[in-house]
Amino acid sequence: MGKAREPVIQVKNLYKIFRVGNSKVRALNGVDLTIYRGEFCAIVGTSGSGKSTMLNMLAGLEKPTKGEVIVAGEHLENMTENQLVRFRREKIGFIFQSFNLLGTMNAVENVALPLTFRGVDKKTREEKASKMLDLVGLSKHKKHRPNEMSGGQQQRVGVARALVLDPEIIFADEPTGNLDSHTSEDVLKLMRKVVQEKNQTLVMVTHDNHLAGFADRVFHIIDGKIVKIEDRKDYKEEEQ
Ligand SMILES: Nc1ncnc2c1ncn2[C@@H]1O[C@H](COP(=O)(O)OP(=O)(O)O)[C@@H](O)[C@H]1O
Ligand SMILES: [Mg+2]
Repeated sequence: MGKAREPVIQVKNLYKIFRVGNSKVRALNGVDLTIYRGEFCAIVGTSGSGKSTMLNMLAGLEKPTKGEVIVAGEHLENMTENQLVRFRREKIGFIFQSFNLLGTMNAVENVALPLTFRGVDKKTREEKASKMLDLVGLSKHKKHRPNEMSGGQQQRVGVARALVLDPEIIFADEPTGNLDSHTSEDVLKLMRKVVQEKNQTLVMVTHDNHLAGFADRVFHIIDGKIVKIEDRKDYKEEEQ
C-alpha cells in the first residue's frame, strides 16, 4: 500500500432508535466504524439487522438518534435538510436494488439524467453518458429501453448512472437483490473495477455472505451492532 489511509467515512457511537407505538426498536445500537478512501466495503447481516438504516445514516437520508456521522469531512448529524440535499447531490451516488430506471427513456437518457439536474448541456450529457455505458460494457445497448435489456444489463445502467457525476462515495443497498447469482457476481466485479479505477469509495449492503466476499473489508452487523470486521485484501492479493 505505502500511502497513508485517508478516512472518508467515520461513525462514532451511532444510535438509531425507532419508536413504534409504545415500544422502541434499536435499529443501530452503538456503531463505530471507519471507511477509507478507495475502499470497497460490505455491510453484511440478516434481514432486520440494521443494514439499510446504517446506509441511510451514512448517506444523510435519515438523522441519527445519537452519535456522529462524518462523511467527506462533513458532520451530517448537524446539517439542515437543505445542506443534506446539497451534500447528497455533490458527493454521493446511489445504486438501488430495484434499478430505478425510467421506463420511457433509453440507456443513454437514463444515465444522462443526473447531469440534467446539474445543468450540463445536451451534447456533453450524451457524450458523458455514452462513455459511462462503454465503461460498463453496454456499448451496443445505448438506445435500448429498460424493458429491452436483461436484469444484469439494467443494473449496469444503474451503475453507470450512479457514477456519471463522478461521486466520491457510492452507496448500494442490496444492488444485486433482483439478479441471479452468476449475474450478481458479474455486476459486483464490474462495480469493483470501475470504482477502483477512480479511487472512489463503495459501500454495499447485502444479506449474502458470499457476495460480501467481493469487498476489501466486510462489516458484520447483528441487531444494530458491528460484531466483526473482516479484512479480505491480503487474501485477495494472494489469489491473484
Ligand atoms: N422507519 C422505521 N420505523 C420503525 N422501525 C424501523 C424503521 N426502519 C427500520 N426499522 C426497524 O429497524 C430494524 C432494522 O431495519 P433495517 O435497517 O431495514 O434492516 P435490514 O436492512 O438489515 O433488513 C428492524 O427491526 C426494522 O423493523
Ligand atoms: Mg434493508
